[in-house]
Amino acid sequence: MNLHANESSPTGTYAEGMPWNPVERVILERRSIRSFRPEPLPDGMIRRILEAGRFAPSAGNMQPWRFVVIKSPEIIAAMERDAVRIARLFMFFLDYARGGRVRRAITMPLAKLFIRLLPNELHAPPFMLLSQIAQGRAPVFHNAPVIVLILEDRRGVSCPAVDIGVCGQNMVLAAHSMGAGSCWIGLIKLLRYYPKWRRRLGARYPYHMNESIAFGWPRPTADGLVPREVQIVEWREGGPDDPPRYERQGG
Ligand SMILES: Cc1cc2nc3c(=O)[nH]c(=O)nc-3n(C[C@H](O)[C@H](O)[C@H](O)COP(=O)(O)O)c2cc1C
Repeated sequence: MNLHANESSPTGTYAEGMPWNPVERVILERRSIRSFRPEPLPDGMIRRILEAGRFAPSAGNMQPWRFVVIKSPEIIAAMERDAVRIARLFMFFLDYARGGRVRRAITMPLAKLFIRLLPNELHAPPFMLLSQIAQGRAPVFHNAPVIVLILEDRRGVSCPAVDIGVCGQNMVLAAHSMGAGSCWIGLIKLLRYYPKWRRRLGARYPYHMNESIAFGWPRPTADGLVPREVQIVEWREGGPDDPPRYERQGG
């Protein structure tokens, strides 16, 4: 795909009349890939992806991360099985409307408690994905040949979760630039509920299992475009008392 800044990009990105440079192209053309070929990526390529993550900026240069590369098909299959089990358990409690009166009476208060305790995890999109996973209609790890777990060191400065996001984004962009596909798998959090996975994957204090990324060679049947919202951006260019100027970004 050849993007030029003077035409509307597939993401509806604002155009500036200059050709997109190679970095911008990688950013704009990357998509989450949820269908992978079974063969693994070469180790050298995985190391280059990790290197892009290692060089990410972080608050106070604390680099609050530790990487775990999971290539073993047996381990990935076991992670998938256990994540699906927890998704089913969650859905048993959360999807209380499906059950009879007795189940509803027991599970509804628990579901409300979960939603209070985990408002971000149980937001509509992850909730729908969780429901599909519990019904066996979607995989958690997308049958990827490589999972990179980015453990978050909770001793990081300020907000280590942001550093993890920056680090992972460097990795997915590096992967895309080399022709590999990737998909963030926030649902690796499902494995937190198993002491054995926390132990095996090294997710013990100070490390926290928050995010992972699936990597592999994309299949041609990869997902299509996901739309981006037009942003109304506030520009402040005059004095402190001058009103801002609003501009539509994208679309
Ligand atoms: C922190 C984070 C966690 C995510 N977790 C998942 C996940 O568990 N499963 C999944 O299929 N996609 C996951 N995604 C991918 C998003 O759904 C995807 O980035 C979004 O729909 C935009 O699509 P695009 O990446 O193709 O541009 C995650 C993305 C981010 C940034």
